[in-house]
Amino acid sequence: MRITMVGTGYVGLVSGACFADFGHQVICVDKNADKIAALHRGEIPIFEPDLDRLVATNVRAGRLTFSTELADPVSKSDAVFIAVGTPSRRGDGHADLSYVYAAAREIAANLKDFTVVITKSTVPVGTGDEVERLIREANPAADVAVASNPEFLREGAAIRDFKHPDRIVAGTDDERARKLIAEIYRPLYLNRAPVMFTGRRTAELIKYAANAFLATKITFINEIADLAEKVGADVQEIARGIGLDNRIGTKFLHAGPGFGGSCFPKDTRALIKTAQDYEAPVRIVEAVIAVNENRKRAMARKVAAVFGGSLRGKTVALLGLTFKPNTDDMRESPSIPLVTALQDLGATIKAYDPEGMEQARSELSDVSYCDGPYECAKDADALVIVTEWEQFRALDLARLKREMACPVIVDLRNIYRPDEVTGHGFQYESVGRRS
Ligand code: UGA
Repeated sequence: MRITMVGTGYVGLVSGACFADFGHQVICVDKNADKIAALHRGEIPIFEPDLDRLVATNVRAGRLTFSTELADPVSKSDAVFIAVGTPSRRGDGHADLSYVYAAAREIAANLKDFTVVITKSTVPVGTGDEVERLIREANPAADVAVASNPEFLREGAAIRDFKHPDRIVAGTDDERARKLIAEIYRPLYLNRAPVMFTGRRTAELIKYAANAFLATKITFINEIADLAEKVGADVQEIARGIGLDNRIGTKFLHAGPGFGGSCFPKDTRALIKTAQDYEAPVRIVEAVIAVNENRKRAMARKVAAVFGGSLRGKTVALLGLTFKPNTDDMRESPSIPLVTALQDLGATIKAYDPEGMEQARSELSDVSYCDGPYECAKDADALVIVTEWEQFRALDLARLKREMACPVIVDLRNIYRPDEVTGHGFQYESVGRRS
């Protein structure tokens, strides 16, 4: 199977490399010449565990190549995936589809034999219809089917998620397209990952509904955490107690500083816009966004509460800045509003993140970046665990206490047991648990 992947962001590069690993012939195309030059040198533009190895193996095997030009690869491909960005449009929160439509027009001009054009980017309902209209307008003779195949991979676990999906969703009414998509995913098929064929609009909405539901689950447990703190209950036990009910499930019930990243915030905003446009508002999702926004600054007030409400003259050390571990991605990370709110409360900020400090520099001002957790903790009045990187899970608490000016740990990810931290003489605050 010959595949062109348009866009070498997270989804494009991971999907392209995994398809090549299945044995398909894949060319990843991106307009950004620096990115393609870097990929030719074997440099991966994003931090994703094992992606470098997967790319290198498949490049060496001759199954994976890169280019800035899509004309030639498209003309020779059985399938062309669109995996370009769909950022929030400035001003109104709708998804910006200009990259998707530009790709569609360029693909149209170069189609030869029967080709399936498949959107992998997260796109609002009806985008597939518009992609098809644009292609047919630009190239009325093209033998083409347009399908939707949303991606459910998580950053930091992207390759695993791609190769061991809970399901594959493919939206198309075209029988030839269904056969071709089934063929592309055959290795997963054989591993019994269910492939769900459905309509194109349904597939597009499945993606948004899935992300909105997960964001709702997180936000729900975050509010329960706040209540648990007030009434002296333990949110982790509550999450387990409800999650063991199969109808609820234990995943995505970790209370924390609020969700962030390049997907949940953008996709929930886009979903409420679509829903408003169709006069079928999703009020639960509107509430989720509002609650999540408030939460990030509320976490700063939680830190300040330890010191009577003000952080003037205090140094706060943050461990973890990225929106989750195993990524260098700072997009919509809860750490960004948290840092500003801590600064507004008077704090001086030190921070350490294993991968995210370069990106953090362009997002955050007046932060001193440190080389490791202990340097970060040195002379700090409070240590705040913001992202649950593995390396923060077994810190030497006695050493931390010696380094810090004041023994206070605020654990926004609940990665320690309260008794083990207080046992070392710390004041310990976490999320939704008795301290
Ligand atoms: C998310 C979805 O999980 C993927 O299925 C989807 O494909 C992807 O968006 C996308 O649309 O491309 P991702 O944003 O990489 O993936 O990260 P998640 O692991 O879902 O975490 C998102 C945020 O929720 C993080 O800030 C994380 O800390 C937070 N979270 C997650 C919690 O606070 N609690 C949880 O229990 C789980």
